[in-house]
Amino acid sequence: MAPTAHRHRRAPMPAMISSPPLASPVAPPAVRARGLVKRYESAIAVDRVDLEVHPGEVRGLLGPNGAGKTTLLRMLFGLVAPDAGTIELFGRLPHASDRPSLQGVAGFVEDPAFYPYLSGRANLELLAELDGGVAHPRIDDALERVDLLGRERDRVSGYSSGMRQRLGIAAALLREPRLLLLDEPTSGLDPVGAREVGALLRELASHGVAVLLSSHLIGEIESICDCYTVLAGGRVAWSGTAERLRAQAPASAYVLSTSDDERALELAERTPGLRARRTSEAELEIELREQELDAYVLALGRDGVAIRRLEPRVSPLESMFFALTDDDARRPAERRQPADTLPRML
Ligand SMILES: Nc1ncnc2c1ncn2[C@@H]1O[C@H](COP(=O)(O)OP(=O)(O)OP(=O)(O)O)[C@@H](O)[C@H]1O
Ligand SMILES: [Mg+2]
Repeated sequence: MAPTAHRHRRAPMPAMISSPPLASPVAPPAVRARGLVKRYESAIAVDRVDLEVHPGEVRGLLGPNGAGKTTLLRMLFGLVAPDAGTIELFGRLPHASDRPSLQGVAGFVEDPAFYPYLSGRANLELLAELDGGVAHPRIDDALERVDLLGRERDRVSGYSSGMRQRLGIAAALLREPRLLLLDEPTSGLDPVGAREVGALLRELASHGVAVLLSSHLIGEIESICDCYTVLAGGRVAWSGTAERLRAQAPASAYVLSTSDDERALELAERTPGLRARRTSEAELEIELREQELDAYVLALGRDGVAIRRLEPRVSPLESMFFALTDDDARRPAERRQPADTLPRML
């Protein structure tokens, strides 16, 4: 986001979400989908997908281009009817006459749509009006929370894609959602903006909001989500907590620079499961699983070897996603491509 003075003066959690956390062992999941299928002529976009999102949880829906993320979100919004399977939102089956929007569900799929010739504020006023007018007092707060105060009277046609994305989140916040469904909410944002949106989503979750956000860039949402559903070829390739994902991740490569690289290499040779090599005069690359890293770092310390730099080349989460989504065999036959044309997105 553009650096603005008011970003640093942002109010803490405002009155917008005033209810106590909804998360409780007996609360029904915000989303419970079972066996969802959506077929198009050319492909099965979503193939027997089970998904749960609980109040207070930020779940990342990950997958490369064409994995079925947007189609799944469309089905949750009621914009597309599944060919098979069921969807419950807060324990209730949504019906055509009972749109998800009436049940505290907000968000957007693909790019949030606005009237380009109206200002950001005018668009939000229009949306508040359509929702019965009760959201008018929340407009200023929503604009502030996505850092658009100051540009809110400019026409949306002049907004950058990141600004439109943030306006989409502001529009969702007007509804005081209990469930936020966001399709690639960080895609147009610069790193600072993505971090701020992440912090906002975490804050909403801490107040009991259930958040499901899609992305094809694990790095963008790694710090936001506490659990993930990974789609590949329309199917769930993996689902679970961030912690479990990290524990199951294959060995990751780290760049290491120490006060005594020769000694660090010697110690690496004696550490089971660790591979190390020199990549330049002042740099080693070590490859190991995250849980083995602690022992190695402590061993370096015991030997008086100071660590000057240690950073992942590919994070454990990224290496897990590469492993899950690069596997051509997971793709349904009609969607397979030659291996060398597969995009290595995640
Ligand atoms: N309306 C449609 N008609 C025909 N095929 C569709 C339609 N919508 C989606 N598909 C197909 O379904 C598959 C999944 O598409 P979807 O848009 O859900 O993927 P995605 O994971 O959101 O991808 P991206 O990261 O590119 O946004 C793709 O093969 C796509 O071509
Ligand atoms: Mg999509």
